[in-house]
Amino acid sequence: MKIVVTGREGQVARSLRERGHLAGVDVVSLARPEIDLDDPDSIHAPLSSLRPDAVVNAAAFTAVDLAETEAERAFAVNRRGAGAVAAAAARLEIPVIQLSTDYVFDGALDRPYLESDVTHPLTVYGRSKLEGERAVAAVQPNHVILRTAWVYSPFGKNFVRTMLSLATQRAEVSVVADQHGSPTNAWDIADGILAVAKQMTECPETLALRGVFHLAGGGEATWAEFAEAIFAESRALGGPSARVVPIPSSAYPTIARRPLNSRLNTDKIRAVYGLQLPAWRQSLAICIGRLLADGMTEPRLTVPGEERQNPEHGKTR
Ligand SMILES: NC(=O)c1ccc[n+]([C@@H]2O[C@H](COP(=O)([O-])OP(=O)(O)OC[C@H]3O[C@@H](n4cnc5c(N)ncnc54)[C@H](OP(=O)(O)O)[C@@H]3O)[C@@H](O)[C@H]2O)c1
Repeated sequence: MKIVVTGREGQVARSLRERGHLAGVDVVSLARPEIDLDDPDSIHAPLSSLRPDAVVNAAAFTAVDLAETEAERAFAVNRRGAGAVAAAAARLEIPVIQLSTDYVFDGALDRPYLESDVTHPLTVYGRSKLEGERAVAAVQPNHVILRTAWVYSPFGKNFVRTMLSLATQRAEVSVVADQHGSPTNAWDIADGILAVAKQMTECPETLALRGVFHLAGGGEATWAEFAEAIFAESRALGGPSARVVPIPSSAYPTIARRPLNSRLNTDKIRAVYGLQLPAWRQSLAICIGRLLADGMTEPRLTVPGEERQNPEHGKTR
């Protein structure tokens, strides 16, 4: 099987190349400058020339706070760009897997969100991603939309790397303790994507395999609990750790308001695809082990040949 993923340096794109390599799946990144989601006309020709069995749109404008002031760019990439990837997939008659977010919900419910729950994003980012879901569904019925949450990995910018880096500079870190979510390792998302792509391509007529699904790490946490776990795992391996001071969201104002509850219920993907991601704590330990083994810098990719293709390799953002 050959899969094209949009984006090169993104957490999910990089993880998908690594996990694809291990699973014997050919995963090819299609990224800037070859394509730009901001330019819908740039997508079809390069995708077509790669002749994949499926395309995964993991590229997105993911800067949640910046999106509040750069709404036009966020919508261009997350709505129009997603629609253009799906339209190219439709022309090529291949399935599209679109990544989406827990931030399509407002957090008012007091239980994990189901796929069928009413969406009501609080932010420009959340709205642009929700409209991206709709743009994809409108042009390519052969789609899966995977909503995930609180993504971390040894790569790029994420909460785990930020916490470990802060712990090298200070003894105490204040962390929000009233937002509840589903920490998710990008490697697990990648494994999930590979399983979904396989079943979609093997069963092109099965409608139940299409639509919106939640895919997130098992269990739940607050950011403060997540931070505690990060430091505990790091400490156990001789890495940096700090004391966590739990604070309310009101003490840590951000430009974009985050939902207080964005836990995702993942029963549907387990029932339909037989897929269940590991407990977040278990996957966290694996991620921290790799980060510490690599001296907390961006780890080397384990895909042969990537060093040559990726001049940014090794850079810490
Ligand atoms: N991070 C989270 O906590 C989180 C939570 C829920 C859902 N999600 C969703 O999961 C997906 C993957 O997230 P991630 O954490 O892997 O994202 P990420 O690490 O921020 O990477 C974003 C990717 O998008 C690419 N990109 C941005 N603008 C582009 C453009 N105009 N044209 C082409 N590529 C562009 C970047 O390209 P380069 O490779 O060129 O840098 C990068 O590969 C996204 O759809 C995101 O909305 C993420």
